Amino acid sequence: GHILAQGSTPANRYASEIPKAEAVALTQILDIKPFTHQIYPGKKPARLVGYNGTSPGPTIIVPRGVEAVVRFVNHGDRESSIHLHGSPSRAPFDGWAEDLTFPGQYKDYYYPNGQSARFLWYHDHAIHFTAENAYFGQAGAYLITDPAENALGLPTGYGQFDIPLVLSSKYYNADGTLKSSLGEEDSLWGDVNHVNGVPWPTMNVQPRKYRFRILNAAVSRNFDLFFVKSTATGTRLPFKVIASDAGLLQNSVQVQHVRTAVAERWEIVFDFSTYAGQTILLRNDQQAGGIGTDEEYDNTDKVMQFKVSATPVTDTSNVPQALRTVPFPPASSGIDHEFRFHRSNSQWMINDVGFADAANRVLAKVPRGKVEIWKLENKSGGWTHPVHVHLVDFRILQRNGRGVEAYESAGLKDVVWLGKNENVLVEAHYAPWNGVYMFHCHNLIHEDHDMMAAFNVTQLQE
Ligand code: C2O
Ligand code: CU
Repeated sequence: GHILAQGSTPANRYASEIPKAEAVALTQILDIKPFTHQIYPGKKPARLVGYNGTSPGPTIIVPRGVEAVVRFVNHGDRESSIHLHGSPSRAPFDGWAEDLTFPGQYKDYYYPNGQSARFLWYHDHAIHFTAENAYFGQAGAYLITDPAENALGLPTGYGQFDIPLVLSSKYYNADGTLKSSLGEEDSLWGDVNHVNGVPWPTMNVQPRKYRFRILNAAVSRNFDLFFVKSTATGTRLPFKVIASDAGLLQNSVQVQHVRTAVAERWEIVFDFSTYAGQTILLRNDQQAGGIGTDEEYDNTDKVMQFKVSATPVTDTSNVPQALRTVPFPPASSGIDHEFRFHRSNSQWMINDVGFADAANRVLAKVPRGKVEIWKLENKSGGWTHPVHVHLVDFRILQRNGRGVEAYESAGLKDVVWLGKNENVLVEAHYAPWNGVYMFHCHNLIHEDHDMMAAFNVTQLQE
């Protein structure tokens, strides 16, 4: 049957409440269904369960201001709930972990798409099954485009010079079938890195600039990414970071690496023009945020390679220094809430609460429209936690009392990497509407057991 959570309010009701949206509905149907895919040549295909039989799922591209209704039909093995990560969706369409669509059912999700251009992603969020559902294929890219970004002259053409790099990391059995150790472990690191569903791929490129939209869609693995020439290990090649979780940065930032925790998005421009005829490797620093596993894994430093054609091309794209005026929240002071991410009684928790504790899991009430500073504290020894807050974009103010890297502070985010023994201050404007929303660790095994809680954005008091 057709499920609408929280009172069966028709999606259309919200249409009139979205600022500057055109009243155009775009309807898309995505089927969650099992399929097999040959991942290793010469071995058995792996069984996956993904959106429309692909993993990652189809990329949805929507112009800003065009509302979307996406119907997710569950033909899979277990319950689903879909979150459009990075969208300030109304609460009934935000993928609340207990708002389950069972096999044989469907749910229509309404998405406002009123934000400026950004790289979102949709993925499963079902209580206790998020890791499993995402691991076996339920994640996909979702882009909002807008004229202001299109006018900048960045490398363009989706799939041509504007390329998503959806990272993940898996384990395989010797016969090529996917192996899961979910449920037994505190994390699933995976020893085979994938890009867009392919292990260690090779991409042929022209000697020119490319925009890469990097998304870490792994269950647990964090990456610290850098480029080198295949012929000379060591020297990391420069590139530019242009956008973060919430779209374009204020200005492009030249870097030699980018740390990419689970669920983070970083958009970069890499210029291959000086490497014509060469092979460039995208590598990972194996020690990036994992614990105790990578010394046993031989290949987690590999991500993908680019074979650069020797034939010169004309490249009219460019990367302006100034990209846009980022809507940073107005400055606020004082810490409004403090959240400890820790482990007790063999459960991952936030302030001694897990999501299963329904009576206590709403840890903050925030008046709508208020700007708040939250302190996120890692109190779990050697573990790291990529922390995601639904509904809002935040600014990372400081990490352990110090500033953060230039590319981290030049834009807005919805995930922050909370490293070993770190505390991080994030500031956000709690708007545009009321609702109870989740926040959690995005290491999906931690999230499922049970490092997730909620906050309630409420009506301003008279
Ligand atoms: Cu990307 Cu609550 O999730
Ligand atoms: Cu965690």
